[in-house]
Amino acid sequence: MKLFLDTGDVDEVRRAAELGVIDGVTTNPTLIAKAGKGFRETVLAICAACPGGAISAEVVATDYDTMLKEALEIASWHDQIVVKVPLIEPGVRLVSTLSERGIRTNVTLVFSVSQALLAAKAGATYISNFVGRVDDVSGDGMEAVAATVEMVESYGFESEVLVASVRHPQHVVQAMAARAHVATMPYSVIAQLFKHPLTDIGLHRFLDDWNKAGLSIFSTVTA
Ligand code: E4P
Repeated sequence: MKLFLDTGDVDEVRRAAELGVIDGVTTNPTLIAKAGKGFRETVLAICAACPGGAISAEVVATDYDTMLKEALEIASWHDQIVVKVPLIEPGVRLVSTLSERGIRTNVTLVFSVSQALLAAKAGATYISNFVGRVDDVSGDGMEAVAATVEMVESYGFESEVLVASVRHPQHVVQAMAARAHVATMPYSVIAQLFKHPLTDIGLHRFLDDWNKAGLSIFSTVTA
C-alpha cells in the first residue's frame, strides 16, 4: 500500500520524505489556505520536497469550463502534479477530459461506491474515499472503501483506491485489510505508526544492558 502525506506544510513533507516511505502528498484548499503562502508556490515547494512523488493539487471552480482552465494551469506547473477534482457532475466530465489528455487525476470527496464507479469509469488515477468524516457522523467509512476496492478489482478498472480523511493508525490497518492501494494521512498519524510501548521498553533495556557492560561498537577494548 502506498503512503501519502496529507498536508500543505512543506516542512512536514521534507521531514516525512526523509523517512523514505512516502509515495506522494495530498493537499486540499483548506490545507493550502492553512499553509499561508501562494498555491503555486506551496505546491512547487512540495514537489521539490518529495521528488518523484504524486502531488495532488485541487481545482476550486465548480463549473466545467473554469475547472478545465484551472486543471490545465495546475497540471502545467510540474509533472509530479495530479489534478484533484471533486466528485460533482462537471468534475466527472473534467476527469474524462483530463484522462483522455493523459493528465492524472485524484477524484476527491467520494463517500460511496456508486460515486466511485463514476470516478473509475471517467478514468480517475486515484479515487479518494473519505473515512474519518463518515465515522464522525456515526457511520462506517471503511465500508465504502472495501466496496470500492472490490468494484475496481472485479471490473478491472485502473483507478487506485485512496483512503483519505485518515484520523488514526487503526484507519491505516483497516485500509490494508480492505486492500486499498493508497492511504493518505497527516504527519501526526505517520508519527503514531512508529509507536509501540514494547519497542520503547525493549530499546531501553537493550541500551541499558549495553551501557552497563561498557561495550563500544568502535572499540575492541572492554571496560
Ligand atoms: C484528502 O485528500 C483530504 O485532503 C483529507 O484526507 C481530508 O481529511 P479530513 O477529513 O481530516 O479533513
